[in-house]
Order: sequence, then C-alpha cells, then structure tokens
Amino acid sequence: MNDAIRITRTATKKEKPKDKDLAFGNVFTDHMFVMDFQEEKGWYDPRVEPYGPFAMDPATAVLHYGQGLFEGLKAFRGRDGKIRLFRPQKHVERLNRTAERMCIPTLDPEMVLKSWTTLVDVDRDWTPSSVGTSLYLRPTIVASEPFLGVRPAKEYLYFVIISPVGPYYAEGMNPVKIKVIDKYVRAVVGGLGEAKTSANYAASLYAAEEAKHEGFTQVLWLDGVHRKYIEEVGTMNIMLKIGDEIITPPLQGTILAGVTRDSALTLMREWGLRVSERPVTIDEVREAASKGALKEVWGTGTAAVISPVGELAFQRERIVVNGGRIGELTQRLYDTIVAIQYGAAPDTRGWTVTV
Ligand code: COI
Repeated sequence: MNDAIRITRTATKKEKPKDKDLAFGNVFTDHMFVMDFQEEKGWYDPRVEPYGPFAMDPATAVLHYGQGLFEGLKAFRGRDGKIRLFRPQKHVERLNRTAERMCIPTLDPEMVLKSWTTLVDVDRDWTPSSVGTSLYLRPTIVASEPFLGVRPAKEYLYFVIISPVGPYYAEGMNPVKIKVIDKYVRAVVGGLGEAKTSANYAASLYAAEEAKHEGFTQVLWLDGVHRKYIEEVGTMNIMLKIGDEIITPPLQGTILAGVTRDSALTLMREWGLRVSERPVTIDEVREAASKGALKEVWGTGTAAVISPVGELAFQRERIVVNGGRIGELTQRLYDTIVAIQYGAAPDTRGWTVTV
C-alpha cells in the first residue's frame, strides 16, 4: 500500500467552542481522516479532508447488518503546550482485535497511528487546554459495500473524526448513581461483549433508558448466564475496593478490555496494592456493604476517565458507597492518570505519544 497521506484543507474553518462550554461529543473539528478498502486493492487512498457527510447507498451493508467497529482515545494539551495521545498503541491493538472478530480486514498498526497523529496535527488548534478537557478521537470502520445478504462485506470505509470534549458525565467528578440490572443481559461468553462494536452499545440502550427514568446515570450489567456476577457499566469498566482488596471482573470475553482499566491496574500493582481480576457476585458486594467493608467503587474508561460511584441500586436495595463521596484511592488514580495525560508527571511507562 502506498501510505502517503493526501491532505486537503478546508476553506471554511468553523468557530471553536470555549473550554468552559465543552460537553461530550457534540462538536467536531474541521477535518477527518478517510481510507477505503476493496478486496482487490486492500486498504488504499489514506487522506485528510474537510469534515463532512458521506453519501451512502441505501443498501450499504453496515446500515443493515451492523458490520462495523469503533475506538475512542484522547489527545491532551499539557501546560508545556505539547499535545499527547494517551496509549494509542493499546487502542490500535484493540481496534485490530475487534476487526478480526467482526470479519473486517485488519489495518497496518503504523498506518492507524499515523492517521491519528496526522489528523490531530492538522486540527491541533482545536485541542483545548483546561484540565478535564481533551480531543476525543473516534476511529471507525464500516462495511461500505452496497448489497443485501448476511456475509462479510468486500468493501470498507475507515474514518476518524475528532471532538473537543469536557467531562462525559454531567456529574463531572461527583459520584454517579448506578442501577444493577438483572432483567436484561448485554453479553455472554462467545458473543460480542469484548468487541468495540456498535451492537454492544445498542444492546445497552433500553436498560440504560429505564435506569435514567428512575434517576440513575448508568447501568451495571450482571453476567448473562447466572445473572449474579458483575461485569461492566454501559460506558466504563468497574472496580471495587472491599476491605484491602481491589477487585475488577476478569477479561473472559464478555467485557471490554478497557485501556483505562489496564492503566489503573498497572498503577495499583506498582503501588503494591492487593489487586484481583476475579469474578465477584452482586451478593458479595451487598454482604461487604452490610459489614462496612465496601470502601470504594469507581468506573474506568477513556470517556469516563476515573468516575466515582456513590450508589449502587440492586432490586429494592440501595448501597451507598463511602457516604456518597469520592474515595481516596479513586482520587489518587484520577490525579495520577490525569497528570500523565497532561504531561504534568513524567511518562515513565511509554504511555504517551507526542504529536
Ligand atoms: C469510550 O470511553 O471511549 C467509549 O467509547 C465509551 C462511550 C461511552 C463514549
């Protein structure tokens, strides 16, 4: 593949929002990255072009059978003015793992990384600088072949869009309330649960809407078979501190292998904490709470960063965590990860790539 990236700059630049007005995912920069795939050519014509709509045949495969995937990663502007992508290589690896699971042709990791650094560079003036704000990159692949029938497509479109963002949850760093769901299921072993594909998010909507109407921010899924092991929140992985043990559900195919999950686990192990990736039932959590042993609960995610959980509701029970306040370890994780992301602390693990 000739991987020279063609760059076509927009003639009409958009107005940029102020940092203080940034929410999540509703403003997009001036450009996007696009590349095509055809069976006989492979991936070809990588290019940056003005942000804008795609013309799609109504028979385009992704619109009917959902063959597609996406990623989500962030770029941060530090006080030193540098722009850093956080753990892009991990996101490339996951993108290609999801591609395999979805029967989508994988991409050259170097090319993917280049697509991200090139696009961020072209739109670098869009990178906000206040702590809590960043550029959120959304790489996406869709089956673009127009046909009806259930088989992997022969044509694909890879694109990357960028959104300057603030906090994902309206609560910001205030603890969120989460409803534990045993009525619906999201994934089972052997299914799509660990793939970053839209089907998983579509599957979460109904339960999440029900929970929102009842005043909750999100749902915590239980496993699809026994409906007792905790799995993940619709928008982030989950971690709990019970006594002096930090527990997070293991990667067994049903939950997303979160990059922030991995960062938090790495840090806590380096700090010498007792960390377990093991199955944990909702009954164990309830029992721990009743004995005062449930110390902290938090979520991890690229969009959510480290989000404290102040309340878990299961059936008729409400479990208030740490008096509804942010816990010490949750705060330490947030502060440490954010410091690395903005270049305020040294990156000793090779987690950032400067653009
Ligand atoms: C992310 O954290 O990057 C996601 O894709 C989750 C979504 C809730 C924005």
